[in-house]
Amino acid sequence: MVSLAAYSPCSTVAGVPKNKGNGAASSTHKESIMRHVVVQCATSWDTPRTSTTNGSHAEPSAVVKAGTAPLIQALKSTANQDVSCFHFPGHNRGKASPPSLSELIGSRTFLHDLPELPELDDLFSPKGVILDAQKRAAELFGSFKTWFLVNGSTCGIQASVMATCSPGDYLIIPRNCHISVISALVLSGAVPKYIVPEYNSGWDIAGGITPSQVDKVVKELEEDRKKVGAVLVTSPTYHGICSNIQGIVNVCHLRGIPVIVDEAHGAHFRFHRNFPSSATEQGANLVVQSTHKVLCSLTQSSMLHMAGDLVDADKVSQCLQLLQSSSPSYLLLSSLDATRAQLSENAESFDEPVSMALETKHQLRIIPGISVLDLSSFLSDFPAIDPLRITLSASDLQLSGYEADDFLAEEHQIVSELVGTQAVTFAVNLGTRRHDVQRLVHSVKHLSEKYFSENGSSSRKENPASSPLDKFSIKLTPREAFFLKKRRVSIEDSLGEICGELICPYPPGIPVLIPGEIVTQDSLSYLMDVRDNGIAISGAADGELKSIMLSSPERKRKPQSEHSIRYKFAHLHGSPEAC
Ligand SMILES: Cc1ncc(COP(=O)(O)O)c(C=O)c1O
Repeated sequence: MVSLAAYSPCSTVAGVPKNKGNGAASSTHKESIMRHVVVQCATSWDTPRTSTTNGSHAEPSAVVKAGTAPLIQALKSTANQDVSCFHFPGHNRGKASPPSLSELIGSRTFLHDLPELPELDDLFSPKGVILDAQKRAAELFGSFKTWFLVNGSTCGIQASVMATCSPGDYLIIPRNCHISVISALVLSGAVPKYIVPEYNSGWDIAGGITPSQVDKVVKELEEDRKKVGAVLVTSPTYHGICSNIQGIVNVCHLRGIPVIVDEAHGAHFRFHRNFPSSATEQGANLVVQSTHKVLCSLTQSSMLHMAGDLVDADKVSQCLQLLQSSSPSYLLLSSLDATRAQLSENAESFDEPVSMALETKHQLRIIPGISVLDLSSFLSDFPAIDPLRITLSASDLQLSGYEADDFLAEEHQIVSELVGTQAVTFAVNLGTRRHDVQRLVHSVKHLSEKYFSENGSSSRKENPASSPLDKFSIKLTPREAFFLKKRRVSIEDSLGEICGELICPYPPGIPVLIPGEIVTQDSLSYLMDVRDNGIAISGAADGELKSIMLSSPERKRKPQSEHSIRYKFAHLHGSPEAC
């Protein structure tokens, strides 16, 4: 029999449609009443328009500490039903799953790949097990309200921007923000005001932004009588550099400006004393975390946390519904619930990864020719760096990041998280084992032994790349440029024109050219360098970057000076030719 009361702490309410968005069920049909039951949480937790509590210092409750996972329980219970199913997906709880995929991931996975059945609640109007799971996550992560996301932090960032900025409002962002922030500008119509982060050319790595930089641009915009919808900060960066969120919050909250933090790489920050303090703890209003990065949920599953009273929670919910699939995967959702339970069950789980990462950094630092990124690589007073992120450079061995990474992968089967022109980054997590870090240290020692003698020099290789981030000129907003008619030109002909696409090496997903910006020689040189080193170029219609899409409203004759610049690129692709 169908177990309607799949989740015991909740009460059942009749008359709710089986699947969301289907309209009200007819209460005149007895069978339909029996099927159209949703399991509703006994605790009412209606979405307030504004919060009055600061959830930032909430401690995990006794319930959360017990570590039960309501969504997991509900899926288990539904999967145990002896029922004839006439619902989607067509694999029918695994009975018709594609054999090759079943063999790969196991048939039980399909048993739990379920649609929004009554007992499984509704992501966009949660009243039962999803509400309960989200509430437990909010308690553990210290927020006032938490949303589960099935389209990664990408949709959390997009929804946060759309919920805080109306078209024409300014969004203050670091120039090294993730590509999803730019897509949020296109979707919302907000106008970017960039802050250029400190850039270390020796590492080819940008840091965070500072409260004084934020203060300066907020004042500039105030003087120009521009409306600031929000400030968005990426903290930590992909390399683990944290900005002073508390200081930025102080600057913004004085003026009633909400602070959004892209904490995609910092979902673990609340779970060890050696980690930097989380953005929620520092008073940020909307915090987006890729639970699937350092923590253990399935790829694509993320969380959005809200605190404070500057953001309308209902608007965030509406934006999330607009941006996410109407068929959210329960495998993804339950993986968020399970990850929360995993963390609440074992408060000490990060002890071992933290001590391994610190030890490993220490051992790497003393290897000849090897440097490890830390806060001293930056002049700004960034408050913290994630201890679990290990970024090393072998430039003193005359090796680029790509060359070092190739050596470690080919000779020692070390798979890194991120590679750049100068550095390679490794992410330590709950699954890292001692033999993994020993192997990493051993392989870097081998790299040093081989190239220290071979290249015979210990002076740092000059980095020819200049920052791709600081010299930009904006002609159109990303949204204006995105919707303009485009034309394709060869890369040599693009110099000085308005870029019509977002061009971005991936990883790390930091855009070098944004729609509406003028194509510069620096940006092209940088992009060609990364492309030639085998890094995928995302966003560009032509991934090989032989051509670029422009948003110049009409084709203009180029002034003579630009022709001369063009010749500098002629050797790269033969003679320039417009398409
Ligand atoms: C800094 C940053 N923000 C946001 C994102 C988007 O996260 P997701 O992949 O969960 O959508 C990423 C992904 O790599 C990222 O590095």
